[in-house]
Amino acid sequence: MLSVCVVMNLHTAHSYCRFISPFFLELPDFFDLIMILTIIGSGNVGGALAQRLIAAGHTVLIGARSPLSAKSITLAGHIGEDRFTTVESALAQSEAVILTIPPDAVLHLIPALQTASHNVVIDATNAVRVRPEPYPTAFHAVKDAGIADVVKCFNTTGFENMMNPVYPGGALDMFMAGDSSKAKAVAHTLALDCGFGDCWDFGGGDKVELLEKFALAWINLAIMQGHGRDIGFRVKRR
Ligand SMILES: NC(=O)c1ccc[n+]([C@@H]2O[C@H](COP(=O)([O-])OP(=O)(O)OC[C@H]3O[C@@H](n4cnc5c(N)ncnc54)[C@H](OP(=O)(O)O)[C@@H]3O)[C@@H](O)[C@H]2O)c1
Repeated sequence: MLSVCVVMNLHTAHSYCRFISPFFLELPDFFDLIMILTIIGSGNVGGALAQRLIAAGHTVLIGARSPLSAKSITLAGHIGEDRFTTVESALAQSEAVILTIPPDAVLHLIPALQTASHNVVIDATNAVRVRPEPYPTAFHAVKDAGIADVVKCFNTTGFENMMNPVYPGGALDMFMAGDSSKAKAVAHTLALDCGFGDCWDFGGGDKVELLEKFALAWINLAIMQGHGRDIGFRVKRR
């Protein structure tokens, strides 16, 4: 049976194996490494993550506004227009969603996220220019809406580094914060699938604002201090 599975699309094989035998429900997360993902937003960050995660073997759907914007059309040229659908349709099919839109726009998404609450929510936004009032971050808005499996991740570096985290001496690291171990496990897997060296756990939900400040530290160095966007963080230990 396994030989049948490996010649199939990995995600199809995953679903098939679980369907035909409860034995596979007990397996550790080997097959779970391949997921159906929704990315909301098709700009700099959404586009970079979509391309990396497709290359890693995941099924990626883009929840986009209609009619498609210039950025969406550009991304569709890279990954295929058939991946673009409504937010609701994408969320109904996926296991995890990555939010790559302005943080205040997340407020309008809350009902759709509540309806599709089987999704792990990965919040990649930063409330740098606008806050999702009355919340300090989009993470807090999602959590307050009763969605427990939410994690902040993919917010601490520039989109160019998400497209290519490899630097001389090794890959950059990614960072995450939140209270859901399930959401953190998914974020950790996806960060490594994007090519990051590790995904460090910053702590619980009380560290989410610190993680946005950490993003500001990157923005300060790269942009305000003029070091350029081709820099990034890697944790070294001795
Ligand atoms: N740029 C970075 O390097 C970077 C790094 C880390 C985190 N972030 C965070 O990631 C998020 C996205 O940044 P970005 O640079 O990718 O922005 P971007 O290139 O401007 O893309 C924003 C995306 O959000 C969509 N969007 C905007 N307003 C929306 C709304 N009201 N409802 C639904 N979708 C909406 C846009 O859709 P349309 O195409 O239809 O307009 C677009 O696809 C921000 O929260 C930012 O703080 C950015």
